[in-house]
Amino acid sequence: MTQTRARDHSDAPAPKSVPGDSALTAGALIEGLPFTSPWLLAPMEGITAPSFRDLVLSRHAATELGGAFTEFVRVIDGPVAPKELRKHLGARRFGTPVGVQLMGKNLDGVEGSVRNAVNMGVPVVDLNFGCPAKGALRGCAGAAALKDPTGLETTTAAAVRGAEGRVPITAKIRAGFDHARDVEVLARAAEAGGASMLTIHCRTRREGYCEEVDWTRIERAVQAVSIPVAGNGSAIDHSDLERMRSETGCALVMVGRGALANPWVFSGKQITRAESADFLVEYHDVLMSLGSSAKGAIGRTKQLLQHWTAGGLVESEEHRIRLLRETDGEALLHFLQDAARPFEATP
Ligand SMILES: Cc1cc2nc3c(=O)[nH]c(=O)nc-3n(C[C@H](O)[C@H](O)[C@H](O)COP(=O)(O)O)c2cc1C
Repeated sequence: MTQTRARDHSDAPAPKSVPGDSALTAGALIEGLPFTSPWLLAPMEGITAPSFRDLVLSRHAATELGGAFTEFVRVIDGPVAPKELRKHLGARRFGTPVGVQLMGKNLDGVEGSVRNAVNMGVPVVDLNFGCPAKGALRGCAGAAALKDPTGLETTTAAAVRGAEGRVPITAKIRAGFDHARDVEVLARAAEAGGASMLTIHCRTRREGYCEEVDWTRIERAVQAVSIPVAGNGSAIDHSDLERMRSETGCALVMVGRGALANPWVFSGKQITRAESADFLVEYHDVLMSLGSSAKGAIGRTKQLLQHWTAGGLVESEEHRIRLLRETDGEALLHFLQDAARPFEATP
């Protein structure tokens, strides 16, 4: 599937660096899926809004970062309105396809939301069957589906109906609710519902975001279905991407927090301290330009600094703690702005 420039949906300013046209015409890698490389940016609530996502996309060609998603969009009763979807999607400026992720249990709502998304030109719609939050579980959505494979299948089928064959529906699951014995059952439920790709986050809901992960669960999902599988869970460095593929047989790899530590994880490019700081300054500035308060923009920048390893900007864990504890937002911003200045050679 060839990617083309779509309408500009948002008022967000364009990031400074935009990849060349060659990136905008990159082709799909796996038949039936729009992704332009095997490496995908995970949906992350409160982070993968256009403000952050576009900065990551702007630093990669479509051949390096193959796809990204919005944060989950809740389907409560009826279909999510195009205006709401547009807010999450932002402008389409890059060759890397960006899909909408939906989370909900109301079948008419899911079907209608997918239809709205497809009519807006969204290239892929993902379904969230892994969110561990209490709010999601109360609405029998997100990770609640891990206890109800039939419901998972039915919800997927509703989304597939809404897509009318125009775009693929993908499903993102965890390895289980409080155990991983039924990985195969869950994977097959998504496939039976008509999903074109399954992403499996290899932790169970009970395991939350624990450090230790078991990639053999990804391998089990790969063996259980014939659709392409994206592995997910603690792929942190660029070398982990290929390693996860070779160890589990998954076709694609989705990266979450690894991209918060180093947004260049998809290309593996070694970046300088200045480039690293420049990303954070630009993120801060984009947030401000979108109407964030000074405190809010610094808070969101600190959210990234909690993970940040890119370019050696954060020198040690003690340094990280000092930066996170800095109560003077201006001082933190000055530190980043100074670090972002290109190195000037002395004569
Ligand atoms: C802050 C945060 C927000 C998240 N929000 C979502 C979300 O909106 N939808 C979703 O499917 N998963 C969400 N996740 C889960 C990630 O997509 C991913 O599955 C998880 O972080 C495991 O990948 P990792 O080990 O590479 O971080 C979120 C994770 C984090 C840390």
